Amino acid sequence: MSDLLVASGLVRAFGSFHAVDGVDLTVAEGTIHSVIGPNGAGKTTLFRLLTGILRPTSGRLDFDGDQIGGKPPDVVARLGLAQAFQTTNIFPRMTVLESVRAALVSRHRRTRDMLSWFHSRLTDEAMEVIDRVGLSEFADVESQTLSHGDQRALEVALALAMRPRLLLLDEPTAGMSPFESQRMVALVQGLTRDMGLTVILSEHDMDTVFGISDEVTVMHQGKVIADGPAAEVRANDEVMAIYLGSEA
Ligand SMILES: Nc1ncnc2c1ncn2[C@@H]1O[C@H](COP(=O)(O)OP(=O)(O)OP(=O)(O)O)[C@@H](O)[C@H]1O
Ligand SMILES: [Mg+2]
Repeated sequence: MSDLLVASGLVRAFGSFHAVDGVDLTVAEGTIHSVIGPNGAGKTTLFRLLTGILRPTSGRLDFDGDQIGGKPPDVVARLGLAQAFQTTNIFPRMTVLESVRAALVSRHRRTRDMLSWFHSRLTDEAMEVIDRVGLSEFADVESQTLSHGDQRALEVALALAMRPRLLLLDEPTAGMSPFESQRMVALVQGLTRDMGLTVILSEHDMDTVFGISDEVTVMHQGKVIADGPAAEVRANDEVMAIYLGSEA
Protein backbone atom coordinates (compact mmCIF):
# COMPACT_ATOMS: atom_id res chain seq x y z
CA MET A 1 0.00 0.00 0.00
CA SER A 2 1.48 3.33 -0.99
CA ASP A 3 1.51 6.42 1.19
CA LEU A 4 -0.94 9.02 -0.05
CA LEU A 5 -0.21 11.71 2.52
CA VAL A 6 3.01 12.34 4.40
CA ALA A 7 3.46 15.18 6.91
CA SER A 8 6.91 15.71 8.35
CA GLY A 9 7.75 17.99 11.24
CA LEU A 10 4.58 19.99 10.68
CA VAL A 11 4.33 23.06 12.94
CA ARG A 12 1.64 25.71 13.28
CA ALA A 13 2.27 28.49 15.75
CA PHE A 14 -0.19 31.13 16.93
CA GLY A 15 2.17 33.71 18.44
CA SER A 16 4.45 31.74 20.73
CA PHE A 17 1.93 28.90 21.14
CA HIS A 18 2.45 25.82 19.00
CA ALA A 19 -1.00 24.33 18.33
CA VAL A 20 0.62 21.73 16.04
CA ASP A 21 4.12 21.04 17.24
CA GLY A 22 6.25 18.92 14.95
CA VAL A 23 3.72 16.38 13.72
CA ASP A 24 4.76 13.44 11.57
CA LEU A 25 1.86 11.65 9.94
CA THR A 26 1.81 8.99 7.22
CA VAL A 27 -1.50 7.91 5.74
CA ALA A 28 -1.62 4.88 3.45
CA GLU A 29 -3.91 4.88 0.43
CA GLY A 30 -7.27 3.16 0.94
CA THR A 31 -7.16 3.22 4.74
CA ILE A 32 -9.26 4.86 7.43
CA HIS A 33 -6.87 6.77 9.66
CA SER A 34 -8.14 8.41 12.84
CA VAL A 35 -6.50 11.31 14.63
CA ILE A 36 -7.61 11.34 18.26
CA GLY A 37 -6.70 13.30 21.36
CA PRO A 38 -8.28 15.43 24.08
CA ASN A 39 -9.86 18.85 23.46
CA GLY A 40 -7.25 21.32 22.30
CA ALA A 41 -4.78 18.62 21.20
CA GLY A 42 -4.45 20.25 17.77
CA LYS A 43 -6.56 17.93 15.60
CA THR A 44 -8.66 20.60 13.89
CA THR A 45 -5.58 22.80 13.41
CA LEU A 46 -3.81 19.84 11.78
CA PHE A 47 -6.80 19.35 9.44
CA ARG A 48 -6.71 23.05 8.52
CA LEU A 49 -3.05 22.67 7.60
CA LEU A 50 -3.84 19.65 5.44
CA THR A 51 -6.64 21.40 3.52
CA GLY A 52 -4.68 24.62 3.07
CA ILE A 53 -6.97 26.80 5.21
CA LEU A 54 -3.94 27.48 7.40
CA ARG A 55 -0.33 27.80 6.28
CA PRO A 56 2.18 25.72 8.18
CA THR A 57 4.76 27.71 10.17
CA SER A 58 7.26 25.03 9.20
CA GLY A 59 7.43 21.43 8.10
CA ARG A 60 6.62 19.53 4.97
CA LEU A 61 3.39 18.18 3.55
CA ASP A 62 3.26 15.82 0.58
CA PHE A 63 0.09 14.56 -1.06
CA ASP A 64 0.57 11.92 -3.74
CA GLY A 65 4.02 13.28 -4.53
CA ASP A 66 2.96 16.96 -4.61
CA GLN A 67 4.31 19.35 -1.99
CA ILE A 68 1.02 20.92 -0.82
CA GLY A 69 2.12 22.74 2.35
CA GLY A 70 0.93 26.36 2.09
CA LYS A 71 -1.05 25.84 -1.14
CA PRO A 72 -4.53 27.42 -1.11
CA PRO A 73 -7.61 25.25 -0.39
CA ASP A 74 -8.98 25.27 -3.96
CA VAL A 75 -5.65 24.01 -5.34
CA VAL A 76 -5.43 21.32 -2.66
CA ALA A 77 -9.04 20.28 -3.34
CA ARG A 78 -8.37 19.98 -7.06
CA LEU A 79 -5.40 17.75 -6.32
CA GLY A 80 -7.85 15.42 -4.59
CA LEU A 81 -7.87 16.30 -0.91
CA ALA A 82 -11.28 17.46 0.32
CA GLN A 83 -12.92 18.01 3.68
CA ALA A 84 -16.59 17.68 4.56
CA PHE A 85 -17.48 20.89 6.34
CA GLN A 86 -20.22 21.55 8.84
CA THR A 87 -23.42 23.40 7.94
CA THR A 88 -21.70 26.61 6.76
CA ASN A 89 -21.25 24.89 3.40
CA ILE A 90 -24.87 23.96 2.91
CA PHE A 91 -27.07 26.28 0.93
CA PRO A 92 -30.18 26.17 3.13
CA ARG A 93 -32.84 27.03 0.57
CA MET A 94 -31.53 24.75 -2.13
CA THR A 95 -32.70 21.19 -2.39
CA VAL A 96 -30.26 18.33 -1.89
CA LEU A 97 -30.04 17.84 -5.65
CA GLU A 98 -29.46 21.56 -6.33
CA SER A 99 -26.74 21.71 -3.65
CA VAL A 100 -24.79 18.76 -5.03
CA ARG A 101 -25.22 20.03 -8.60
CA ALA A 102 -23.79 23.39 -7.49
CA ALA A 103 -20.78 21.64 -5.97
CA LEU A 104 -20.27 19.69 -9.20
CA VAL A 105 -20.50 22.88 -11.27
CA SER A 106 -17.73 24.39 -9.20
CA ARG A 107 -15.59 21.35 -9.96
CA HIS A 108 -16.38 21.48 -13.67
CA ARG A 109 -15.85 25.27 -13.73
CA ARG A 110 -18.92 25.63 -15.92
CA THR A 111 -21.31 28.21 -14.61
CA ARG A 112 -22.87 29.79 -17.70
CA ASP A 113 -24.40 28.73 -20.97
CA MET A 114 -24.81 25.17 -19.93
CA LEU A 115 -25.93 22.98 -22.77
CA SER A 116 -28.79 20.66 -22.05
CA TRP A 117 -26.63 17.56 -22.40
CA PHE A 118 -24.32 18.98 -19.79
CA HIS A 119 -27.27 19.79 -17.58
CA SER A 120 -28.60 16.24 -17.65
CA ARG A 121 -25.17 14.69 -17.26
CA LEU A 122 -24.65 16.87 -14.22
CA THR A 123 -27.96 15.72 -12.76
CA ASP A 124 -26.99 12.07 -13.29
CA GLU A 125 -23.65 12.65 -11.64
CA ALA A 126 -25.28 14.49 -8.73
CA MET A 127 -27.82 11.71 -8.22
CA GLU A 128 -25.01 9.16 -8.15
CA VAL A 129 -23.32 11.07 -5.32
CA ILE A 130 -26.63 11.59 -3.50
CA ASP A 131 -27.37 7.88 -3.77
CA ARG A 132 -23.91 7.04 -2.44
CA VAL A 133 -24.61 8.95 0.81
CA GLY A 134 -28.11 7.50 1.12
CA LEU A 135 -30.13 10.65 0.38
CA SER A 136 -31.91 9.62 -2.86
CA GLU A 137 -35.37 9.93 -1.38
CA PHE A 138 -34.55 13.48 -0.21
CA ALA A 139 -33.10 14.77 -3.50
CA ASP A 140 -35.88 17.34 -3.92
CA VAL A 141 -36.09 18.33 -0.28
CA GLU A 142 -34.71 21.67 0.95
CA SER A 143 -31.39 21.09 2.71
CA GLN A 144 -32.39 23.08 5.78
CA THR A 145 -35.28 20.72 6.52
CA LEU A 146 -33.04 17.63 6.67
CA SER A 147 -32.37 15.92 10.01
CA HIS A 148 -28.98 16.56 11.62
CA GLY A 149 -27.66 13.17 10.46
CA ASP A 150 -28.85 13.73 6.89
CA GLN A 151 -27.28 17.22 6.81
CA ARG A 152 -23.95 15.67 7.74
CA ALA A 153 -24.47 13.11 4.96
CA LEU A 154 -25.11 16.00 2.54
CA GLU A 155 -21.84 17.62 3.65
CA VAL A 156 -20.07 14.39 2.75
CA ALA A 157 -21.86 14.44 -0.63
CA LEU A 158 -20.65 18.01 -1.30
CA ALA A 159 -17.08 16.90 -0.57
CA LEU A 160 -17.49 13.79 -2.75
CA ALA A 161 -18.59 16.05 -5.62
CA MET A 162 -14.95 17.15 -5.77
CA ARG A 163 -14.05 13.52 -6.58
CA PRO A 164 -11.41 13.43 -3.84
CA ARG A 165 -8.91 10.63 -3.24
CA LEU A 166 -8.55 11.68 0.39
CA LEU A 167 -11.52 12.80 2.49
CA LEU A 168 -11.14 14.60 5.82
CA LEU A 169 -13.90 14.33 8.39
CA ASP A 170 -13.63 16.39 11.59
CA GLU A 171 -15.92 14.78 14.18
CA PRO A 172 -18.38 13.33 11.64
CA THR A 173 -20.67 11.82 14.30
CA ALA A 174 -20.72 14.81 16.68
CA GLY A 175 -24.23 15.44 18.00
CA MET A 176 -25.64 12.38 16.28
CA SER A 177 -27.98 9.79 17.73
CA PRO A 178 -26.55 6.25 17.99
CA PHE A 179 -28.58 5.30 14.90
CA GLU A 180 -27.29 8.26 12.88
CA SER A 181 -23.72 7.52 14.01
CA GLN A 182 -24.00 3.93 12.80
CA ARG A 183 -25.19 5.14 9.41
CA MET A 184 -22.26 7.57 9.14
CA VAL A 185 -19.82 4.79 10.08
CA ALA A 186 -21.33 2.50 7.44
CA LEU A 187 -21.12 5.31 4.87
CA VAL A 188 -17.43 5.97 5.60
CA GLN A 189 -16.61 2.26 5.50
CA GLY A 190 -18.43 1.95 2.17
CA LEU A 191 -16.41 4.84 0.70
CA THR A 192 -13.11 3.07 1.37
CA ARG A 193 -14.38 -0.40 0.52
CA ASP A 194 -16.24 0.42 -2.71
CA MET A 195 -14.43 3.51 -4.00
CA GLY A 196 -10.95 2.99 -2.57
CA LEU A 197 -11.19 6.39 -0.88
CA THR A 198 -8.70 7.24 1.86
CA VAL A 199 -10.23 8.83 4.96
CA ILE A 200 -8.68 10.81 7.80
CA LEU A 201 -11.09 11.46 10.62
CA SER A 202 -11.06 13.00 14.05
CA GLU A 203 -13.54 11.63 16.51
CA HIS A 204 -14.15 11.66 20.25
CA ASP A 205 -16.27 8.51 20.43
CA MET A 206 -13.80 5.70 21.13
CA ASP A 207 -16.17 2.91 20.07
CA THR A 208 -16.49 4.58 16.69
CA VAL A 209 -12.73 5.19 16.42
CA PHE A 210 -11.69 1.64 17.19
CA GLY A 211 -14.59 0.14 15.28
CA ILE A 212 -13.74 1.90 12.04
CA SER A 213 -10.00 2.70 11.93
CA ASP A 214 -7.11 0.87 10.34
CA GLU A 215 -4.58 3.24 11.88
CA VAL A 216 -4.80 5.64 14.81
CA THR A 217 -2.63 8.65 15.60
CA VAL A 218 -2.91 10.08 19.11
CA MET A 219 -2.19 13.77 19.64
CA HIS A 220 -1.63 15.59 22.90
CA GLN A 221 -0.64 19.25 23.25
CA GLY A 222 0.20 19.55 19.56
CA LYS A 223 2.43 16.47 19.45
CA VAL A 224 1.94 12.89 18.32
CA ILE A 225 2.27 10.67 21.38
CA ALA A 226 1.36 7.37 19.70
CA ASP A 227 0.76 6.07 16.22
CA GLY A 228 0.01 2.67 14.75
CA PRO A 229 -2.55 0.01 13.92
CA ALA A 230 -5.80 0.61 15.83
CA ALA A 231 -5.49 -2.58 17.91
CA GLU A 232 -1.96 -1.64 19.03
CA VAL A 233 -2.94 1.88 20.02
CA ARG A 234 -5.95 0.60 21.91
CA ALA A 235 -3.73 -1.85 23.82
CA ASN A 236 -1.34 0.96 24.80
CA ASP A 237 -2.32 1.54 28.44
CA GLU A 238 -0.15 4.62 28.83
CA VAL A 239 -1.78 6.32 25.86
CA MET A 240 -5.27 5.48 26.98
CA ALA A 241 -4.50 6.73 30.50
CA ILE A 242 -3.24 10.07 29.17
CA TYR A 243 -6.12 10.35 26.77
CA LEU A 244 -8.88 9.35 29.13
CA GLY A 245 -7.23 11.20 32.03
CA SER A 246 -7.21 14.55 30.28
CA GLU A 247 -10.59 13.91 28.73
CA ALA A 248 -12.10 13.37 32.20
N1 LIG B 1 -6.69 30.67 15.23
C1 LIG B 1 -6.19 30.37 16.43
N2 LIG B 1 -5.55 31.28 17.17
C2 LIG B 1 -5.03 30.97 18.38
N3 LIG B 1 -5.11 29.75 18.94
C3 LIG B 1 -5.73 28.80 18.25
C4 LIG B 1 -6.31 29.03 16.96
N4 LIG B 1 -6.87 27.89 16.50
C5 LIG B 1 -6.65 26.97 17.47
N5 LIG B 1 -5.98 27.51 18.51
C6 LIG B 1 -5.57 26.80 19.73
O1 LIG B 1 -4.85 25.65 19.34
C7 LIG B 1 -5.13 24.57 20.21
C8 LIG B 1 -5.60 23.39 19.41
O2 LIG B 1 -6.91 23.65 18.93
P1 LIG B 1 -7.68 22.64 17.99
O3 LIG B 1 -8.97 23.24 17.65
O4 LIG B 1 -6.79 22.25 16.87
O5 LIG B 1 -7.88 21.39 18.96
P2 LIG B 1 -8.72 20.07 18.72
O6 LIG B 1 -7.80 18.93 18.98
O7 LIG B 1 -9.40 20.10 17.42
O8 LIG B 1 -9.78 20.14 19.91
P3 LIG B 1 -11.31 19.63 19.95
O9 LIG B 1 -11.24 18.17 20.28
O10 LIG B 1 -11.91 20.41 21.08
O11 LIG B 1 -11.95 19.91 18.64
C9 LIG B 1 -6.14 25.08 21.22
O12 LIG B 1 -5.46 25.46 22.39
C10 LIG B 1 -6.75 26.29 20.52
O13 LIG B 1 -7.20 27.23 21.44
MG1 LIG C 1 -11.35 20.03 16.81
